[in-house]
Amino acid sequence: MRMSRRLDNLAPYLFVEISKKIAEKRAKGEDVVSFGIGDPDIPTPSHIIDRLCQAIQDPANHRYPESDGLPELRQAIADWYEKRFNVPLDPDKEVLPLIGAKEGIAHIALCFIDPGDTALVPDPGYPVYSIGTMLAGGKSYFLPLNEENDFLPDFKSIPEHIAKEAKLLWINYPNNPTGAVADLDFFNRTVGFAHQYDLAVCHDGPYTEVAFDGYQPVSFMQADGAKEVGIEFHSLSKSYNMTGWRIGMAVGNKTMIDALKRVKSNIDSGIPQAIQYAAIEALTGPQDCIQEHNAIYQRRRDLVIDMLNNIGLKARPPKASLYIWAKIPDGYTSVDFATDLLEKAGVVVTPGVGYGRSGENYVRLSLTIPDAGVVKGLSRLAGWRDSKNRFKAKSNLT
Ligand SMILES: Cc1ncc(COP(=O)(O)O)c(C=O)c1O
Repeated sequence: MRMSRRLDNLAPYLFVEISKKIAEKRAKGEDVVSFGIGDPDIPTPSHIIDRLCQAIQDPANHRYPESDGLPELRQAIADWYEKRFNVPLDPDKEVLPLIGAKEGIAHIALCFIDPGDTALVPDPGYPVYSIGTMLAGGKSYFLPLNEENDFLPDFKSIPEHIAKEAKLLWINYPNNPTGAVADLDFFNRTVGFAHQYDLAVCHDGPYTEVAFDGYQPVSFMQADGAKEVGIEFHSLSKSYNMTGWRIGMAVGNKTMIDALKRVKSNIDSGIPQAIQYAAIEALTGPQDCIQEHNAIYQRRRDLVIDMLNNIGLKARPPKASLYIWAKIPDGYTSVDFATDLLEKAGVVVTPGVGYGRSGENYVRLSLTIPDAGVVKGLSRLAGWRDSKNRFKAKSNLT
C-alpha cells in the first residue's frame, strides 16, 4: 500500500491520544480525574431529547436529508441570530447547517486553499484550523496569542508579504484554549484588516453562550461589514450540551456559504433529520438551561481558580468558554508537567503545546466534569509533588 504524503503530516488527533492514555490507566484499575476534553458532562435538556424521540418515529426522517438542511432549521438559526445578536440573516443564502462545527471548519479550507496557499491561524488554537489547511495542501502562518495582548492576535506584527499572500484568517472568541474574549472593537479591526488584504475571515464562535458573571459575548457578525468578508462557525454542542449529536452551523457571507455548501454536498449527505428537528427545538424552545449550566460552570471555575492560585499556578478567571488556561512553573515543558500530573496524581490536564508552540508554558483545564470530580481533582493537585521536585503545593484542600 502506498499512502498519501499528507497522511505523514497528520499526527493522531490530540484528544485521541489523551483518551488512549486515560483508557490504559482505567483498564489497570486506576482512578483518573480528567480536566481534559471540553465535553459537557451535563445532559442535553429533556425537551430537546423528547423532540428527537418524537421525530425519529416519523418515516420521513429515515430518508436522506438535504445537504443544506431543513428550511425550518435554517430559519430557526436565522431567528436565533436575530434574537441573540440582532443580526439579520437570509436563511437560504447566509445559513448552512453543519454536522458539527468541526466538520465545516475542516471543509472550508477546500474552498480557499490550493496547494502552497497560506492561512493565518491563531497559536495556540483549535487544531482543526491548521489541520484543514494542511489537508488542502496549504500552509499555516501562526499568529501568536500572548497574555500581554490579552490573547488577541497582533495584526500589525504580520509581515506585509505574508498578509498579502494569505487567503484565509482564522479567529476564535470566546477562545479555546485560552478562555480569552474579544469585543466589537477587535472584530471591527478584523474586518478592516481583511478588507486591506482581501482576506476571507472565519470566526469560530461555539462558546458565545458559555459565559459568566453576567458577561454576554458578542458575535463577529455584529461587526460593521462582517458579512462582506467572513462567516462565523457556531454549534449547539456547548450551548445545549449536544456534543454527541453533531450539529452546528456556518452563517454570514453568501459566497463563502455557497462555496462550503458546494463542497459539502459532494462529500456528505447532511444531518439526520430527526436531529435537525431536535436542534430546532433547542434554538426555539426555553433558553433557561443556558443560565442554569453557566451557573454550574461558574461555580467550578471559581473552585479551580482559587485552588490553582493557592498552589502557585497563575490563571486568570475566564469571562467565558469552558476553559482555564494556567501558566506552569518555569523549568517544565507542558507535556512533562501534564505527564507527571497524570502519572503521580491521576489527574489529566491538556498540555498547552498541543494547541501550538505559543501554548508551551501553559496547561488547559476543562470545566466539564461533575463537581465531585472537580473537588477530587483539586485535592489531588494540592497533594501532588512532581518528580523534579520543583513544584510545591502551598496548601491542602480537604
Ligand atoms: C473552538 C472550537 N471550535 C469548534 C469545536 C467543534 O465543535 P462541534 O462539536 O460543533 O464540532 C470545538 C470543540 O471543542 C472548539 O473548541
